[in-house]
Amino acid sequence: MNEIRVGLIGFGTVGSGLAQTLHEQKDRLIRRTGAAVTLTRVADINIDKLPEHLNSAVLSRDAADIFNDPDIDIVVELIGGIEPAKTFLLEAIRHKKHVITANKALLSIHGREIFEAAVANGVEVGFEASVGGGIPVIKSLKEGLVANRIMSIMGIMNGTANYILTQMTDHGTPFAEVLKEAQELGFAEADPTYDIEGIDTAHKLAILMTIAYGKHVQLSDINTEGISRIEPIDIEFAKEFGCRIKLLAISQNHGEHVEARVHPTMVPCSHMLANINGAYNAIHFNGDTVGNVLLYGPGAGKMPTGSAVVADVVDIGRNILNQSINRVPALSYLPEHIGTPSITPMSELTCPYYFRISAADQPGVLSAISGIFARHDISIKSVIQKSRHADEPVNIVIHSHEASEAAVELALTEINALEVCAVPAVKIRILTSDD
Ligand code: HSE
Repeated sequence: MNEIRVGLIGFGTVGSGLAQTLHEQKDRLIRRTGAAVTLTRVADINIDKLPEHLNSAVLSRDAADIFNDPDIDIVVELIGGIEPAKTFLLEAIRHKKHVITANKALLSIHGREIFEAAVANGVEVGFEASVGGGIPVIKSLKEGLVANRIMSIMGIMNGTANYILTQMTDHGTPFAEVLKEAQELGFAEADPTYDIEGIDTAHKLAILMTIAYGKHVQLSDINTEGISRIEPIDIEFAKEFGCRIKLLAISQNHGEHVEARVHPTMVPCSHMLANINGAYNAIHFNGDTVGNVLLYGPGAGKMPTGSAVVADVVDIGRNILNQSINRVPALSYLPEHIGTPSITPMSELTCPYYFRISAADQPGVLSAISGIFARHDISIKSVIQKSRHADEPVNIVIHSHEASEAAVELALTEINALEVCAVPAVKIRILTSDD
């Protein structure tokens, strides 16, 4: 029987999910590919022993043992981070191995170099597990939606942030307490800053935009804000406005330029994305041919992410068996048709806003604040001031009509400079039904 031989670098959560899936689905994969898909070597510096079902695989501490093995067809990198993952992937490519990675940070920063090296060496790069965990979002975009000009991408792409916001919404639990719970549950990144500051979501948006538009979008192109300043009071106000707060990745295609932003957003409760709860992810595309498509599922975890890695192994394995390597270009567009993006400046964005301004409760404060908004042509829809404890600053909540980001930035700089405002104002963009 034919065999597809896989070498794995990094036997952590996802690596062991890959091994377990290949083991449990062995017969099904034979029936689906006509070949045995075998994990023959594993490199990991943190383990001394592989599980029983992998007793025919060789464990080593040196990733070079994998690239140097002439029998290995596909190298899977699951160690994460930039280095040594980048060197390992480039070395594997130089050794003419097909590569698979779940490393969104690496692809969103050095993807261009990796994809170009793969083209130069005639090998494939699989990265289904880099976005949306077990959701087949990369394949959907590259193949299922190939007939479409993608007009927008909007999604919840970080399970940790969504879990935190959901717990805060459902139970009123403060941010720090829920973050601790998420870390205990094991789905937060090694450095939770990436999850809560929107960086992990930005990595994923850069990858999706690259495939959607055929432009090399990088992490540095994405305007990124996280959720660490959201307080239970903001969640309560969102409810009063008929919204839920979600950390959204958003890209609207304006033709000449495309938006690239990640930020907490007030989403009307009637919107599908407002109803994605817990650690789940959902990604919404609008295509000019198909219309609206929503993909929903587990965005992280051992077995869902293992499922996505196996999908790449099978895709590449089938292409090896059928001698059709790069049947589907790695980034969907042919390499010679991939360009450089033009990103819409954030200052050009317009939307309604929620502002929470913490200020001393003194005469004239509200009029000073509303005067600043008026001078910057920002029209106020409603103002709420909640009761306070004596001697504590009050929270003044302002819901604006549609305003320009440029004007909002200028107004907030002036408001934050007021002596009565001890901490910078919180600003949350509000999604409208047209978005
Ligand atoms: N930390 C990520 C999340 C894991 O919470 O979604 C998968 O990328």
